[in-house]
Amino acid sequence: MNKFELKLCVIAVLLLNTVQAVTGQIRITHGPYLQNVSETEATIVWLTDKNAVSWVELAPNNNLPFYNAERPRFFASKIGIKTEAKIHVVTIRHLEPGTKYRYRVYSQEVLKHDGWHVYYGDIAATDVFSKSPLTFVTNNHSKPETTFTVVNDIHGKNDVLEQLIIKAEPKKNDMIIFNGDMATIINSEEDIFAGFMDKSIELFAKETPLYYARGNHETRGSFAAVFKDYFPQGQQGLYFMFRQGPVCFIVLDSGEDKPDSDLEYSGIVDYDTYRDDEALWLREAVKSRDFIEAPFKVAVCHMPPANDWHGEKEVLQKFVPILNEAKIDVMLCGHLHRHIKRPPTELIKFPVIVNSNTNLLRAKATITELSIEVIATDGSKVDSFVLKK
Ligand SMILES: [Fe+2]
Repeated sequence: MNKFELKLCVIAVLLLNTVQAVTGQIRITHGPYLQNVSETEATIVWLTDKNAVSWVELAPNNNLPFYNAERPRFFASKIGIKTEAKIHVVTIRHLEPGTKYRYRVYSQEVLKHDGWHVYYGDIAATDVFSKSPLTFVTNNHSKPETTFTVVNDIHGKNDVLEQLIIKAEPKKNDMIIFNGDMATIINSEEDIFAGFMDKSIELFAKETPLYYARGNHETRGSFAAVFKDYFPQGQQGLYFMFRQGPVCFIVLDSGEDKPDSDLEYSGIVDYDTYRDDEALWLREAVKSRDFIEAPFKVAVCHMPPANDWHGEKEVLQKFVPILNEAKIDVMLCGHLHRHIKRPPTELIKFPVIVNSNTNLLRAKATITELSIEVIATDGSKVDSFVLKK
């Protein structure tokens, strides 16, 4: 390349950058992150700064380059029409259990509609050229063991979250579970992403499944009603069940802590009815084969059951009798910002572990043993428990 050609090249690059700066080329602003990973499904969520249609390309995890073949596309769509939005949710179905997949996310800007014509703009995608493609592994109920970590009550403190997640060593976990109050209030998308999700995506959520039990603080704020758009878990509500290895997890949504009529809720909540519906779901969920056949049954619920504040009483009265009868092994809670170990009683026939806001629970389960360690931000072991079969 001579001097003149080099000059032309520099001008071309400068022009391209200027055009991009003026037109504002579409970009991925948050994510991707994993949701609802099961034995046969996975949901991938990400956001862009412009309205777009989106898809995920999926490739097997073999030695061939991602560019070896055209990869199947799974679109964000509803009622047969590709979804045009800034938040992109793609559910991939018919996957194989216990299988690692590589993936790439794509968004193509939608410029305008003119009758039946749709005009498209630029594309944003995750990098599979200069970086290894992102991957995830589907769950497998036959897996002989599983390892998972629970954190809760972070209240937007990214520094605490980072210290805990680093101690958890995400790549050694099959999943990370958030047990509520990750933010103090949700008034905007910013409260979710600047509050805890950008850090979570950076540290693990692109490749390690994230399951999320809502806390009472995620129920608050002008953006709280669209929480499920960002965390599309569960069919009816934000409560669901899943299986990984020897453990069946029941993730409950304990709702608000005060009566629905409380001044603090401004007449906008209806959690008593919500928990009634959840109890009906739970009654059926514990009859499922996935639950009955699991060597260990673990409930995850932000508020611990207690004859205390209204929300805790609701957990005690509406969920505990079903969980007692279903013989769960342990319930993992948060909410109280301190570490408490409650042994089984006549009223609550299973142990309850309340994790503090500065510790994590690191658990490992085989078909005969579930061990849980309580680890502080400095890595020291605060407590430990072993349940044997
Ligand atoms: Fe709480």
